[in-house]
Amino acid sequence: MNSYPDIKTAIYLWQESIHGNISWNTDVRSREYIFHTNGVGDAALKIAGYCGLDSSKAYVLGLLHDYGKIQNEQQSGIAHFIYGYNAMKARGFDAIARVCITHSFPFNDIKFDDYKQYSIQDLQTAQSIIKNIEYDDYDRLIQLCDMFFETNNIVSYQQRLSCIRQRYNLSPQQTTTLEKGVEQNKAYFDAKCGCDIYKIINVRE
Ligand SMILES: [Fe+2]
Repeated sequence: MNSYPDIKTAIYLWQESIHGNISWNTDVRSREYIFHTNGVGDAALKIAGYCGLDSSKAYVLGLLHDYGKIQNEQQSGIAHFIYGYNAMKARGFDAIARVCITHSFPFNDIKFDDYKQYSIQDLQTAQSIIKNIEYDDYDRLIQLCDMFFETNNIVSYQQRLSCIRQRYNLSPQQTTTLEKGVEQNKAYFDAKCGCDIYKIINVRE
């Protein structure tokens, strides 16, 4: 489960996902999608370079982790992590399919109460896919980088969590799970890089 596209193909797929967004969403939301996914890819590339991971792989995973947002999950009822997983599996890009799911769940034993914005069916499917996955550095890296690009700004994870909490009307318990995940991942990569990763990706607290 380790295949991913080359950068040229990844950019083609990324552009495809942007056009998908424009068809159902406002231009503003599309610009936010572009900023977010481009930012996650770029941050993953930079951090990977600092800690000896494959920068090209990290970039491609970051760019395409939200591919499932090519469709509107509110209208279709299909969570973006499921849509993205299936679309990337169908193309044979199993490594991308994997992060389409894992980026949404900092822990691979999903507590359904923490994700009430999604259907039970989608959560059961996600659980069945990730329960046997031991998260690796790429899973953790994309989970982490997903926490710094909000609307049109590079933000601290606390600011990003605050926006997510309001957007999905999350309970304190739901927010705590996400916070534990990002704290754990940030400490892991700070240690692995030998510095505060905020310096690498220019996050100002
Ligand atoms: Fe994301």
